[in-house]
Amino acid sequence: MTSLLILNGPNLNLLGTRQPEVYGRTTLEDVRRLCEAEGARLGMAIAFAQSNHEGVLIDAIHGARGVHAGIVLNAGAYTHTSVALMDAISSAAVPLIEVHLSNIHAREAFRHKSYIAPVALGQICGFGAVGYALAIQAFAAHLGLQSGEPAA
Ligand code: DQA
Repeated sequence: MTSLLILNGPNLNLLGTRQPEVYGRTTLEDVRRLCEAEGARLGMAIAFAQSNHEGVLIDAIHGARGVHAGIVLNAGAYTHTSVALMDAISSAAVPLIEVHLSNIHAREAFRHKSYIAPVALGQICGFGAVGYALAIQAFAAHLGLQSGEPAA
């Protein structure tokens, strides 16, 4: 079965209690359940991970090669700083969709820059946890999967 890696970066383990006025009350566990439900609906297996450490995220991106058909990445603040993550994505050559809960373009200027966007298939931001489900749907379309059916 086609599988996707949903990878979450620093501080996203605190979702639900972290700045709820910005990120809402949805927990990372809620996001995991939502991703698994969307994956099941579209016939894709979902692996879900979170780390606060840049190197662990890089290792996960490298490890996705040959294992996962795509990566959905919310790199948190590393989005705006990490050339190393950008290089890992280019090197692993696994298709990747960038997701953010908040609309990074409507926030502080330093959040407008993404090192991930130039090496991503696309970016989804501003829709809260729904953005993860939208990214999974985008992968289903990109990979040519039909709703509820596994890859041919
Ligand atoms: C975030 C946006 C980033 O700017 C921030 O550093 C985060 C969360 C989001 O999901 O909206 O940690 O990636």
